[in-house]
Amino acid sequence: MATHKWCQEEKVKILTWFVGLFLNVLFRTTEIFSNVIFWLVYRNEEKIRLPAIDNSILLESATCLAKKIRTQEITSEEVVKTFIRRIKTVNPIINCVVDNRFDLALEEARKVDQLLQSGQKDEESLEIETPFLGVPFTIKDCFSVAGLHYTSGLVKRKDIIGKFDSDVVILMKKAGAIMLAITNVPEMCMWWESVNNVYGRSRNPYDVNRTVGGSSGGEAGLLAAAGSPFGIGSDIGGSIRLPAFFNGIFGHKPTSGIVSNHEQQPVAEKVLQSYLVTGPMSRFCSDLLPMYRVLAGDKVKQLKLDEKVSLSKIRYFYMEHFGKNPLLSRVHPDLKKAQRKVVHHIRGTYNASIQKLKLPLLYHAMEMWSVKMTSAGNPPFVAELAMRKGQISLVVEFLKFCIGKCDHTLYALAMGFLEKLCPPSSHPLSVKMSAMCDELRLQLQKVLGDDGVLLVPPHPTAAIYHNQSLTRPFNFAYVAIFNVLGFPVTQVPLGLGSWGVPLGVQVIGNLHNDHLTLAVAAELERAFGGWVPSSPITC
Ligand SMILES: *[C@@H]1O[C@H](CO)[C@@H](O)[C@H](O)[C@H]1NC(C)=O
Ligand SMILES: *[C@@H]1O[C@H](CO)[C@@H](O)[C@H](O)[C@H]1NC(C)=O
Ligand SMILES: *[C@@H]1O[C@H](CO)[C@@H](O)[C@H](O)[C@H]1NC(C)=O
Repeated sequence: MATHKWCQEEKVKILTWFVGLFLNVLFRTTEIFSNVIFWLVYRNEEKIRLPAIDNSILLESATCLAKKIRTQEITSEEVVKTFIRRIKTVNPIINCVVDNRFDLALEEARKVDQLLQSGQKDEESLEIETPFLGVPFTIKDCFSVAGLHYTSGLVKRKDIIGKFDSDVVILMKKAGAIMLAITNVPEMCMWWESVNNVYGRSRNPYDVNRTVGGSSGGEAGLLAAAGSPFGIGSDIGGSIRLPAFFNGIFGHKPTSGIVSNHEQQPVAEKVLQSYLVTGPMSRFCSDLLPMYRVLAGDKVKQLKLDEKVSLSKIRYFYMEHFGKNPLLSRVHPDLKKAQRKVVHHIRGTYNASIQKLKLPLLYHAMEMWSVKMTSAGNPPFVAELAMRKGQISLVVEFLKFCIGKCDHTLYALAMGFLEKLCPPSSHPLSVKMSAMCDELRLQLQKVLGDDGVLLVPPHPTAAIYHNQSLTRPFNFAYVAIFNVLGFPVTQVPLGLGSWGVPLGVQVIGNLHNDHLTLAVAAELERAFGGWVPSSPITC
């Protein structure tokens, strides 16, 4: 009996080893071929630069603009006009804005200026009640905004117009901000290249032949191109952080359950509500916290955003990669180097404790995220693609795709297919992965306490070429795992790498410790320069 059991265990071990080897060979070979082919295709492309930034308004944070408007140093109308002009200049190249309300925004801006000129309210109460008075903002096309298209990149939704504002839009408006435009996403936000058959493909402002990432890709690309002061993204598998990283801006994924996910597509049901988070994005770190304060609404009380953070008292941890999981690419030397500089800086400047962390469970980040997602109780992705009226057939749609008659992108079909590969939640493997994920959460909570942060690369490489994500579909595990863990994460840019596109790092904190990750992000912006303009400056 005992020998029989031993035999079984040995068999499983050997089988696992072979599957691992097979996957490793498969993924590494695909990657090498993909690198060669994409290099051949794009090698002669000349770098297109975006038109110069010709107005200093485009170089200010939303917080600074708000102050200047409040003190009547500049008018809201001038600010709104300047960003509209910038969008009109850059959008034909990067295709990030998909619908707008420019005229209405200008009208609202003029009303703000009239209110200010009337002197009805003093500066202090204006700042407290309406911290972003007169500043325009943008949001990704998966939130309902009254009067604007609300497609989430799905052809079946192409004529749907938002009937009312989602909670986060209402909160921003209450804070005085002016809704300006909505930005591109992947089909139903479930891939990490922002391309769909309603609006086409968004392009990275640093290299138009590379992706902006997704799903808040249009938003990140527009912000990086100085086309909007600040914006709102949402994140269920890295959708704020990955595009923020690829476009070299700041993005914050709040602690789960703080910011309302109301009225966005696809709708997150039950448990999925705790994996999906809505949060702020900006070129300037200083905008994240005040914007987060607005977006959190009443739940701001659960956070410690006003607590003073002493950077030398934080315990810092870092990881260079999640181990050699065959599904994941190896982390690029550029990113390792950037992270080492950060480690060196923290050690040198703050003499703070910074340790390399070993969390072997993160090796299974991809598997854990997939299992948690599929067992969360939402309809399958093929049903979302059918607007929950039945399901689309992947085979039929793929055949239609081959003859150019499919409404869906290959990415959406790939997502539907990958989801089907995931075992059902009752399968022993799923049960095991789910338990491992819960164990990982406990481990990380213990490590971080209320004074720890962890630095992790957001992705194995900087922004890759368009379409290349299909040859390495699982690399978003580096961001996605923190959705099912629920921790707050701030994405921080760290200059440009050897590909000429941004590098960066994720700063992770324990639940409700968003103030720590935001404080560390602000320090890294100070030390490493933050956002780097992707076009010349002539003002
Ligand atoms: C690179 O981007 C430019 C601008 O969008 C486009 O014209 C060109 O065809 C792209 N190159 C390739 C190889 O797709
Ligand atoms: C740095 O920290 C270590 C241990 O925490 C301490 O012994 C040392 O004196 C500190 N050095 C400086 C320059 O503050
Ligand atoms: C990406 O692949 C699709 C086919 O799936 C092709 O039509 C498109 O031109 C490709 N785009 C780029 C920019 O390489």
